[in-house]
Amino acid sequence: MKGTFPIDKFQSLHTPFYYYDTQLLRDTLDVIKTEAGRAGNYAVHYAVKANANPKVLSIIRESGLGADCVSGGEIRAAIKAGFPAGKIVFAGVGKADWEINLALEHDIFCFNVESIPELEVINQLAAAQGKTARVAFRINPNVGAHTHANITTGLAENKFGIRMDDMEQVIDIAQSLKHVEFIGLHFHIGSQILDMGDFVALCNRVNELQERLEARQLRVPYINVGGGLGIDYAHPNRQPIPDFQAYFSTYRTHLKLRPYQTLHFELGRAVVGQCGSLISRVLYVKQGVNKQFAILDAGMTDLIRPALYQAYHKIENLSSERPVQAYDVVGPVCESSDVFGKAVDLNGVQRGDFVALRSAGAYGEIMASAYNCRELPKGYTSDELC
Ligand code: LLP
Repeated sequence: MKGTFPIDKFQSLHTPFYYYDTQLLRDTLDVIKTEAGRAGNYAVHYAVKANANPKVLSIIRESGLGADCVSGGEIRAAIKAGFPAGKIVFAGVGKADWEINLALEHDIFCFNVESIPELEVINQLAAAQGKTARVAFRINPNVGAHTHANITTGLAENKFGIRMDDMEQVIDIAQSLKHVEFIGLHFHIGSQILDMGDFVALCNRVNELQERLEARQLRVPYINVGGGLGIDYAHPNRQPIPDFQAYFSTYRTHLKLRPYQTLHFELGRAVVGQCGSLISRVLYVKQGVNKQFAILDAGMTDLIRPALYQAYHKIENLSSERPVQAYDVVGPVCESSDVFGKAVDLNGVQRGDFVALRSAGAYGEIMASAYNCRELPKGYTSDELC
């Protein structure tokens, strides 16, 4: 089964481009609101790093989600899209002074702090602005996620977060500083996680750490468990909306939240992954030795995930019902790794056919580069085209 696309509307557009199905995005957001809402004290932030297209951001903002940012640029994009500063959290191991200042000027909800030197700089800069910054500590829970090595973040060997053993010491330091207010703990174990057992392991860790806080009479209102819920790249049509019911109920069952606490989430991929496709045209069909190539006008500069993580994206020929043949689907960039898929079954390909690379709404457009002096792809929504 292929996805449905307004191909007649595509005819006049310059390829490659990203196409976002806004109905699917809105439906996904509705499910998130319903499933997270069952708990009563859950707050969901959208991880802007997954996709900062302004039209996508404004639909997400309309749904009432907050924003999770990892740079000053993302804070600006979130503010511009209308996210209230009081719903913005700011993470990242290397926050520059100007980025901290920007966040302080907007009085964002919370800094997710990743080291003692960073905490001290936030305190200094907040003092200079005559403010107090709310801070949470990103704790590295040393929980492995069953996902690609490049996108796990919660292991001791990763650069992210503060070691669990250092937590108490860092809290002591925060409490001695005048311009920071310690409000809670932050975690994130990785991305594209489909095994709920990984999230259960995180919940168990959080429960242990909460007991350590309580032993010291510390009551914190904010627990943030990050994002990481994966999507079904193999079957974008069969399961376009990720299993948010299973995701949020895992936390409801396993994480012991105190009555004075709110549990925050930072979901990226699961929000926007399935609503986006990279649309490309076939430039050439070329015979190789024992294989044939479908050469697209989209390349690794437009969607780098296959080259960078050996990621799978379902590929569909939208223009053809001809008998299926196998193709190596490649881009025009001068790199051998500019390959979207090998021996991919596609309806017989001809020059000019539209090809969709599915499930590309997250970490697609935003990771595009201008390598080879290529133009950055544009993004269109179904609202604009239909
Ligand atoms: N919170 C923090 C602190 C993060 O580092 C991330 C993602 C998220 C939330 C959102 O995670 P998500 O819900 O999207 O899994 N470029 C890679 C993914 C990198 C993810 C980085 N951190 C890819 O294309 O697979």
